[in-house]
Amino acid sequence: MKKIKIAPSILSADFARVGEEIKATTEAGADVMHLDVMDGSFVKNISFGPKFIKEARPYSNAIFDAHLMIVNPWNYIDRFADAGADIITVHYEACKDRLKDTLKAIKSLGVKCGAVINPDTPVSSIKDVIEECDMLLLMSVFPGFGGQKFIPEVLPKIEEAARLIEQTGKEIDLEVDGGINKENVGLVKKAGANVIVAGSTVFAEPDRAKIIRELREI
Ligand code: DX5
Ligand code: ZN
Repeated sequence: MKKIKIAPSILSADFARVGEEIKATTEAGADVMHLDVMDGSFVKNISFGPKFIKEARPYSNAIFDAHLMIVNPWNYIDRFADAGADIITVHYEACKDRLKDTLKAIKSLGVKCGAVINPDTPVSSIKDVIEECDMLLLMSVFPGFGGQKFIPEVLPKIEEAARLIEQTGKEIDLEVDGGINKENVGLVKKAGANVIVAGSTVFAEPDRAKIIRELREI
């Protein structure tokens, strides 16, 4: 059994006091800080870039997981690596036939890498790059905003990705992102995910330790 890692998405934090939010969420038991980077082009929202991550870094020793929702991600990966990301994930939809080379480029910077697919992209599109990845990320909402509703049709895709990971015999994490709450987290884990992103669910709950514990244990 792979270790369950809870990954609060900072997108739902109060950006005016984000250092404090990151520190408190880490102390509350988060394993990973999920950092949603949006460029207003790949997705219809703008969030933050490498400077934000660099300045957030001292507030937490959790794994910094940079989810790049940007076009031409290969132009920016060195800046996210320098900023202190521990893992950088890039979308198949943004990279297409450059995905494998982009993953290799991330690894060559000494950072872990992962491939991401949208809810309507089949798992088969990343089949050939699984062995390059430290993590696969399946979106369970269309990227762009926190607080959307979980798309249950993603559950069989999680099972399919988990099977493909098992066939590699490698330690590859399976992350799911979007609309996860106490009601559906059990299904997501049962399908085979071990890295659980939760933004609105974590930041809407004043008792962060309680919600992180619940998401881990349900
Ligand atoms: C969506 C982002 C998600 C999002 C998760 O584009 O990639 O990480 O912030 O937030 P919730 O858990 O509220 O769906
Ligand atoms: Zn995300």
